[in-house]
Order: sequence, then C-alpha cells, then structure tokens
Amino acid sequence: MSPIPKTAPFAEEEINLLNRVVGPASQIQRAWLAGFLAGLDAPSLPAGTELLPAAPARPAEPITIVYASESGNCEKLANDLAKAARKNGLKPTLIDMADLDLAELTKAKRLVFIAATWGEGEPPARAIRAYGELMGEGAPRLDGVEFGVLALGDTAYAEFCAIGKKIDERLAALGGKRVVERVDCDLDFAVPASAWIGDALKVLTPPDANRGQGNGQVIAVDFGKPAAAPNTDIVEAEISEHVNLNSSRSNKETIHLALAFEGGAPAYEPGDSLDLYAENDPAYVDELLKHAGLAGDDKLRAELIKSRDVTTLSLKTVETYAAQIGHQYVKALLADNQAKEWIAGRQLIDLIATFPIALTADHLRAVTRPLAPRAYSIASSRREVGDEAHLLISAVRYETHGRARKGVASNYAAERLKRGGRVRVKLKPNKHFALPAGDRDIIMVGPGTGVAPFRAFVQERRAIAATGRSWLFFGDRQFTHDFLYQLDWQDALKDGSLTRMDVAFSRDTPEKIYVQHKLWEKRRDLIEWLDGGANFYVCGDAKAMAKDVRAALVRAYADVKALTPEAAEQAVAGLERDKRYLQDTY
Ligand SMILES: Cc1cc2nc3c(=O)[nH]c(=O)nc-3n(C[C@H](O)[C@H](O)[C@H](O)COP(=O)(O)OP(=O)(O)OC[C@H]3O[C@@H](n4cnc5c(N)ncnc54)[C@H](O)[C@@H]3O)c2cc1C
Ligand SMILES: Cc1cc2nc3c(=O)[nH]c(=O)nc-3n(C[C@H](O)[C@H](O)[C@H](O)COP(=O)(O)O)c2cc1C
Repeated sequence: MSPIPKTAPFAEEEINLLNRVVGPASQIQRAWLAGFLAGLDAPSLPAGTELLPAAPARPAEPITIVYASESGNCEKLANDLAKAARKNGLKPTLIDMADLDLAELTKAKRLVFIAATWGEGEPPARAIRAYGELMGEGAPRLDGVEFGVLALGDTAYAEFCAIGKKIDERLAALGGKRVVERVDCDLDFAVPASAWIGDALKVLTPPDANRGQGNGQVIAVDFGKPAAAPNTDIVEAEISEHVNLNSSRSNKETIHLALAFEGGAPAYEPGDSLDLYAENDPAYVDELLKHAGLAGDDKLRAELIKSRDVTTLSLKTVETYAAQIGHQYVKALLADNQAKEWIAGRQLIDLIATFPIALTADHLRAVTRPLAPRAYSIASSRREVGDEAHLLISAVRYETHGRARKGVASNYAAERLKRGGRVRVKLKPNKHFALPAGDRDIIMVGPGTGVAPFRAFVQERRAIAATGRSWLFFGDRQFTHDFLYQLDWQDALKDGSLTRMDVAFSRDTPEKIYVQHKLWEKRRDLIEWLDGGANFYVCGDAKAMAKDVRAALVRAYADVKALTPEAAEQAVAGLERDKRYLQDTY
C-alpha cells in the first residue's frame, strides 16, 4: 500500500512522486524526513497549527565508499552498500577509484574500500593511477579514519585478492583504524559479500543514527537488481550460427557464435559482454571420477559436468584436500611450502591422479567450487542484428605437465555447442567501455578476440550514420588463416563505417609485428586524431598487449610532440583521466 493517501493535499502526480520516494524509504529515513519538514516549517506556520510529534532532523552521518572495479562486481556491491547505508540513516559518498582524489580520504570519517584484483595481482585498469598514489610516498595520513575493506578475487590466481589485501594494509599503515576485518571473496562472492556489508554497517553505523528503531539493529536491504537495470537475468538462446573463422590450416580455432533470443535479446549496448554458462567436458569428468574411484556415480557425474569447477587447482583446493582427506603427501606439500609451486600449470585431476585415495562424492564437492560463467564481449549491435547477439570465442588449448588441457567454456563453445542447440547467457553491462557521440572519432586496438567489441562499435556507428571517423588496429598470427571477420572489415571500409584499418600479422614476417608496432608506425596520424578529440579503445590480452600498447602510445606522444618521457606519460594519463583511453582487457 502507498504511504501517501490520495486524499493528501497534493496533485495526483505529486502524490505518485512522493510515494516513489517515501514508499521504499526505511523507518529511519521517514523519521528524518518528518523531523526535517517539521523543523523547516515550524517558524512560519500559523499560530495554533498542530504538528505531529517528530524527531528533530540532524545531518546524516557520512560514510565514504570507494570501489576499484573492472568488470562491475565491486561497483555493484558498492552501490548495494550505499543503498543499505542510506536506509540506516548514513549519508554515503560513492567514489570510483578511477576518480579518487586522495585528499577526499583524509576528510572521511568512515571509509570502506571494495576492491577487485586483476591481471596477475594488479589493480583494475581504471584504478591504477589512484592505487599507485595510495601506495606512494605522497599518500596522506589517515589518522583516526575508521575503515574496512572487502576484497574480491578468484582463488584460481596465485595472487588471490592481492589488491584488497594491500589496500587494507596500507590504510592501517597510514594511521587508519581498522574497525571491520577484511573478507576475501572468491568468484561466488554474493553470500559472503552481503554478509560483510551487513557486518560492516553494524560497526560503522553510529548508535544514534538508528534512533528510528532505537535498538541499534541494522536494517537489511534487498540487494536485487535496481528497477531500472537492463535485463540481467540468465536467459536461454538458440545458436543460429556456429562458424570457425580460422582457416583449416590455422593452429587456432576462433568461433563466431550467433545467438538468437526468442523473447527479445537482452538490452545490450556496444561494449557490453555476455556471461556464458558452460558445462564441463564429459570426457574430463569421466577421467576425474575414475581417478577418484567414483566412476559409477551417475548423479555425481551429471552434477560435476553441469555445476562444479572441476579443473581449477588452487592453494585452497589443496588445503581442503589435505584437511578433508588427510593425504600425508599432500600435507607434506603444504608443510614444506611447496604447494604453490606444485599447482602451477596443474589442475584438480593432477592432484587426484598424483595423490590417489578413495574419495566420496562429498569430498569432491568439498574440493570444488561452483562453476563460474565466462565473459565474452558482444560482437554485434542490436541496431544491425535485431534480437541476436554475436560472440567471438577462441578455443583455449595447451599442454602442461605432459597433459593436454582444454579451457572449459571456450571448448564447450567450440566442440559441444552446435547450430540449433541452446545455451544460457546473462548480460554483463559495461558502461565504462561505451561509444562516444556519433560525431567523435574513435581509435580501436583489438588484436585476436579483442576485435569482438569493435565489430559491435562499427555496426552501431553504421546504423546510426555516425559522422565521426573510425580507425581499427587488428592483429593475429597469419593473414591467410587468422584474419577474423575479414569480409566484415572490407565491407565497413567500403561503406565508410570504418575509415581506416591497420593490421599486424605476427607470423607472416621473420620479425614479429604486433599492433603496437603499427601504432608506432602511424604515430603522427594517431596523435593528430587524439588531439582532435578521438577516443582510444583497447581490448584483448591484458598480460602483454595492453601494456605494450600503452607504452607505444607514450612513446608516440614523446616523439611526435617532442615531450620528455614524463610529459608523454602525463599526456596518456590525461586521456585516462578524461575517460578517452578506455580498456576492456582480460
Ligand atoms: C570482460 C571479458 C571479456 C572477454 N571477452 C572474450 C572474447 O570476446 N573472446 C574470448 O575468446 N575470450 C574472452 N574473454 C576471456 C573468457 O572469458 C575466458 O577467460 C576464456 O575463454 C577462457 O575460458 P575457458 O573456460 O575456456 O578456460 P578456463 O577453463 O578458464 O582456463 C583458462 C585458464 O587456463 C590456464 N591457461 C590458459 N592458457 C594456458 C597456457 N598456455 N599455459 C598454461 N596455462 C594456461 C590459465 O590459468 C587460464 O586462466 C573475456 C574475458 C573477460 C573478463
Ligand atoms: C583476466 C582476469 C585476471 C584476474 N586476476 C586475478 C588475480 O590476480 N587475483 C585474484 O584474486 N583475482 C583475479 N581475477 C578475478 C577478479 O578479481 C574477480 O572476477 C572479481 O570479481 C572482479 O571484480 P570486478 O568486476 O569488480 O572487477 C581476475 C579476473 C580476470 C578476468
């Protein structure tokens, strides 16, 4: 029922507006509002007007929430925390670490950091500048600032939650007072993260902020998706195209996957990704079950194929294996501090095959975590393909420790998804990798599958008849065998939706040529485009390519504009600050 009745002395649309605010407000927020309004009008009310008793309005206590996020998880949690803080009578200030001015931290009374780790123990790309400043000598003292840190990560990485851990240590070293213990979350962070938010609010909410309830209890908040969010539920799609874009003579396999949505495609924008819910390779699961002595358990087999991460081998897996099963050699591996080294390049199957012991189904459940979806950049624009979404998926295959390995989701897509089959996906919006206005120029650097979002960009700009110029840098191994979406680019160059394209095929020449070499070669035009206001986008490999591309751009500035290396670095940092240097790397 709406709290403001139709009989209230307001127009109907005003009553609707008020109900939108007051309806979902907490008891504390309503008490504050009542007190505020009473205080506002008391002096000017006609004598004899009766006011309902209400608590006097006091300024809400502040809380500063900083998030360091790349794919949006920490950002979403920070928003959840802000919402919950507001309901508990606090006044949150929400800051993307990309925009953080460290001086703001010194003014904070209560401070929360929610931070993800990327690369191999690195900060999210957007947060690199502020993170460097926080860790640097010039960081301000934070004496007396009450803080708590929530860290997000993935136990599959050696540097699990490294950035959250380092921020937590640093805030304490700068004089901050840790009032909430850090929690390190794995990929299945929803439950521990919302528990941490609840605990943090209990500690960070001053008792008198809860005066509406008077019992110091924290108001629980439903962290469901906001009403205005695009459709981010898991949906099923039919595979309408499944094409390997590499030639049969390539040693790579990159699948163009067209997904058709019956009830309408999720409302994606160019730059967004889809989370794909894959299944494990049945042959791998069968081998695993054989080693575990559980080959006949069909129920377990189905469960493992569908919903458990049966490949990742992390330190946590080894610790759980030792604790649950008590295998003496595994215990020794941990005791000798050799486990971290041993797990490099290995998977769960190696652990069970190397240290065999009869396992139960529950043992296997205990050493596996839920199977997480994998993100894939959307390679199409809805304006061009309607209710479809296209993905470009490179099959991950390699050999380590004498065993052939296959990436779970990419090989599910390459080997087991077929035209006419179905797959489950969920939209993963990325507002930090979006197109600018149509009259602005764009430069896109996307070797390998990094080119996927740029196909969406070009399609979109064609559909809206954008007047800005577009320049694509693409690279792969061989022109003849690995030129992904070659015909699309030729068409786009013909119809003008792509103005320029430069390619680098690393294995066509004795000396390896990559996109960063092409950037350097074209540096004069590149800087001219950037001086004219172009946005610069980089997508694809985070380990080497993204760093090399940035370094090439710094060198280009130094050379073309005759700048010192420091000034050239500042020029690129300026692009980042202005959100004109945008990355989506993995
Ligand atoms: C925002 C975003 C967008 C993305 N877009 C795309 C895209 O458009 N196209 C695309 O193909 N991918 C994309 N990815 C990557 C994708 O999500 C998956 O990570 C990738 O497909 C591998 O998943 P998998 O399940 O096949 O492999 P997994 O089972 O997850 O195995 C991958 C793991 O295997 C190990 N490994 C891989 N190669 C080697 C090697 N040579 N030696 C030793 N170990 C190795 C590493 O530990 C690696 O983490 C994107 C990722 C993100 C975060
Ligand atoms: C390419 C890549 C690299 C990652 N590197 C690490 C890492 O080194 N350590 C870690 O704990 N987590 C790592 N993660 C996991 C992320 O921290 C995790 O997915 C987190 O939820 C992302 O949060 P965000 O969406 O706010 O960026 C990595 C994830 C990806 C996709």
